[in-house]
Amino acid sequence: MSTSTEQITAPAGAGPWARVFAAVYDPFLWAGEVGGMRSHRRDLLAMARGRTLELGSGTGLNLPYYPDDLDDLILAEPAAPMRKRLEKAARRGARTATVLDAPAERLPLQDASLDTVVSALVLCTVDRPDVVLNEIRRVLRPGGRLLFLEHVRADSPRLAAWQDRLEKPWRRFAEGCRCNRATVELIEAAGFTVERRTDAKWRAMPAIVRPVVSGSATMNTAADSAP
Ligand SMILES: C[S@@+](CC[C@H](N)C(=O)[O-])C[C@H]1O[C@@H](n2cnc3c(N)ncnc32)[C@H](O)[C@@H]1O
Repeated sequence: MSTSTEQITAPAGAGPWARVFAAVYDPFLWAGEVGGMRSHRRDLLAMARGRTLELGSGTGLNLPYYPDDLDDLILAEPAAPMRKRLEKAARRGARTATVLDAPAERLPLQDASLDTVVSALVLCTVDRPDVVLNEIRRVLRPGGRLLFLEHVRADSPRLAAWQDRLEKPWRRFAEGCRCNRATVELIEAAGFTVERRTDAKWRAMPAIVRPVVSGSATMNTAADSAP
């Protein structure tokens, strides 16, 4: 495995809690990973093609599931404590990957330069999902795909009300994560068509983050909106 890290900017993941969060991230998620999240990751990432960018790669839990024949794998992670673990995971793996210190809002990549962008549990965390989705549109080539695996706002009004009630404490605990965000609707509002969608439960996790959706989306073209 060979890796290289390029420094861009690191707005996320500062402060003592960020270091603790990165340290407990894998143990906290372990039961959920074993309970089904790994197979959601595997199914999703089997769709990755060509030059692929993963946003907010965290500790690298997706790394084992990328196809071997990608042209390029770029892992962007702006939080230093997460990135340290990501670099270790990337070095341990069998493939070549580039680790980037970059937020999803400002990617140091050219327009239309990627075939696949992956967001796993990241669109819930960024402050401005609309800005991030525009940035994804900028870097994807026409016909490129956004692959997403996100926990989302519950369909059940009762659970959604609990998500609203607990949004603030959960956000503090989970480093900015919004448990009540309707992420798939935001993806569609940003000009993507969801072409594949699987709804599931994130087992062994708190109920407020249990509804998860994974799938793929492509960018709408001008022809899609023509009368
Ligand atoms: C819940 S973790 C998900 C980590 C990993 N993608 C996974 O599937 O386990 C959210 C990640 O998003 C990162 N993050 C936070 N703000 C970000 C931003 N503005 N741009 C990109 N990543 C961000 C965090 O540092 C963290 O690694």
